[in-house]
Amino acid sequence: MIKQMHSGWAYLVLIVLIGAFINALLGVISKKEFKVKDLRLALFALIFAHIQLILGFINYYVSPFYTHMKEIGMGATMKDATARLITVEHPLMMILAIVLITMGFSKHKKRTSDKAKFRTIAIFYGMALLLILAKIPWQQWFAK
Ligand code: HEM
Repeated sequence: MIKQMHSGWAYLVLIVLIGAFINALLGVISKKEFKVKDLRLALFALIFAHIQLILGFINYYVSPFYTHMKEIGMGATMKDATARLITVEHPLMMILAIVLITMGFSKHKKRTSDKAKFRTIAIFYGMALLLILAKIPWQQWFAK
C-alpha cells in the first residue's frame, strides 16, 4: 500500500512542481506581480514534496529492494544498476531535490522584488525538477 501511495503521489508532486516552475518562469519573463496565488502554488509544491519524502522513507524500509540490499551487501548492490538506482541514487537525488525546493521557498521569502521572488523559485524548483526527472525509476513506474 505504501508503494502504491508513493507511486500515485509522485504524479501530484510532478504536476504541482512543473506548474510552480513554469509559473515562476513566466513571472520572470513577463515581469508579473508576485501575488498570493503564486505564493500558494510554490507552497503546495513544497508541501507535496515533503509528503513524498515521508512516504519515500517508509517505502524505502518496507521495500524488497532494501531487504535484498541487506542480504547481498552494499558492494554487490552498487554493481546492480536497478538495485543501485532504487536503494541509493533515487533516494539521494530526491532528498537533494527536496532540499533545493525548501531552500528556494525560504530564499524567495527574503527577496524584496517580484522579479527576484519569481527568479529564485524558477532557479531552485527548476534544479529540483531536473534531479527528480533524472532519477525517477521510470521503467519500473510505467512497467505496470
Ligand atoms: C519528490 C520526491 C520523490 C518522487 C517524485 C518519487 C517518485 C517515485 C516513483 C515514481 C517511484 C516508482 C514507483 C512505482 O514503481 O510504482 C518511486 C519508487 C521508490 N521510491 Fe521514490 N520518489 C521520491 C522520493 C523518494 C525518497 C525521498 C525515498 C527514500 C528515502 C524514495 C524511495 C523510493 C523507493 C525505495 C522506491 C521503490 C519501491 C519499490 O519498488 O519497492 N523515494 N519513487
